Amino acid sequence: MKKKILIGLAVLFVIIQFFRIDKTAPEYDKSKDLIALTNPNSEVERILRVACYDCHSYESEYPFYTNIAPISWWIKKHIDDGVSELNFSTWGDYPIKKMNHKIEESAEMVTEKKMPLTPYWMIHWDAKLTETERKTLGDWFLALER
Ligand code: HEC
Repeated sequence: MKKKILIGLAVLFVIIQFFRIDKTAPEYDKSKDLIALTNPNSEVERILRVACYDCHSYESEYPFYTNIAPISWWIKKHIDDGVSELNFSTWGDYPIKKMNHKIEESAEMVTEKKMPLTPYWMIHWDAKLTETERKTLGDWFLALER
């Protein structure tokens, strides 16, 4: 009985591997990207790319484990939710009011340690921001407000 369950699970695991996630990004105007538009210093750019861009832009990187279901589905869901909430790749398309709102939220999320999401920095150690990095990024966001 136990053996049958194990075999069943193994078969199921193999089958779900056929349901791959979509890793393609749509065509978009790269001149409207947040970094392209605001030209931050290299430290801010580095933090944005290592801590935010995998989930809040069309430039997500997909490490090997994003090929393994069901982990891949869980990660894809985070990326889809992150991008729909806030997309730095299409930043220039946001109306000023929305931009200011997203700036305030971003500064708040970073200083209150709500972003990047915990499971993310547990795997991406360079995204586990220090107090100084949080302050640098938070202050930089607030200075963008218009
Ligand atoms: C692992 C993916 C991931 C990373 C990395 C990440 N986010 Fe998010 N972010 C999400 C998801 C998913 C949501 C929407 C659901 C939620 O609020 O938890 C979100 C929501 C947000 C929101 C909207 C919050 C609200 O309440 O409306 C802001 C602002 C934000 N993130 C900023 C950032 C910033 C700035 C960074 C980098 C320091 C970052 N995020 C890194 C996944 C991520």
